[in-house]
Amino acid sequence: MLTIGIESSAHTFGVGIVSKGKVLANEKLMYDVGTRGMIPSKVAETHVKNAKTVIRMALEKAGVDMREIEGVGYTRGPGIGACLQVGQLAAKTIASGLGVRIVPVNHAVAHAEITKHEAGFKDPVTLYVSGGNSQLLKLSKGPERRYQILGETFDIGVGNMLDAFAREIKLKPAWGSTVAKLAAKGHYIPMPYTVKGMDFAFTGLLTYASSLAGKERNEDLCYSIQETSFAMLCEATERALLLTNSDELTVCGGVAQSSRLREMLAGMCKEHGMRFGFAANEFNADNGGMIAYVAERMLNSGVSAALDRCDIEQRYRIDKAVVY
Ligand code: FE2
Repeated sequence: MLTIGIESSAHTFGVGIVSKGKVLANEKLMYDVGTRGMIPSKVAETHVKNAKTVIRMALEKAGVDMREIEGVGYTRGPGIGACLQVGQLAAKTIASGLGVRIVPVNHAVAHAEITKHEAGFKDPVTLYVSGGNSQLLKLSKGPERRYQILGETFDIGVGNMLDAFAREIKLKPAWGSTVAKLAAKGHYIPMPYTVKGMDFAFTGLLTYASSLAGKERNEDLCYSIQETSFAMLCEATERALLLTNSDELTVCGGVAQSSRLREMLAGMCKEHGMRFGFAANEFNADNGGMIAYVAERMLNSGVSAALDRCDIEQRYRIDKAVVY
């Protein structure tokens, strides 16, 4: 079966094509956040403009014709409403045009599941770190499996925090990855550190680091905000692994592309004799491949939705989605 997956929860319009668990194409075009961040209506307009092109790119990459597609998946949430709607409508248009089954997918489940698949792990604790989300997850046992949230951010996602700081000190492009580049040449300044059990918070750290803008070297601020936030994530993750008697850890989501975060998590796992894994960066960034991957598994399990039940849910929490 060939399944197409459409992702549009934030700045990326992504289209993936999967057959028997193998990702044949994973194409995308992105909205340029510039220095102002994401303006939902502008991002959605960009997705509308890009949709047809990205779908064509994915079909060409996979070497298949649209008429061969037998299943459709799309991101139901979480994400930005206007952006989610573009992917939802594109997916419904494809499914109704071809007369094939369609299934809504939870974006966070897709990140966690494609990463588990890529790492070859069975039952890991998953640290999901992206712009909008930062959560510690573990799949429940039993016939109806869901990701349980062991811990999460009390305020904003670590990715949004780093992106916001990049804008605050006027870095270009204003991404956490630009913060990481400057951090390589920095020295540590003590900063607020907030971990409560397996939960954590980032706005205090962002406010403090921003208050030092112009007073301390940007390199030192970048190094310190990154080290502090990643150390917080490591502490909470270590606690989650030990409390759940787990011996496997995966990291997924946009911030999982950070080599420094991976290094810190790998070091912690090594100390405990635990296995650590992650997926290729194309699956940590927002992408349609992971949506197609989960959609195919859902469709193979007999799960699909009537077209008029294919909605979006901006706050679609991972623990509300059944995993197949
Ligand atoms: Fe994502």
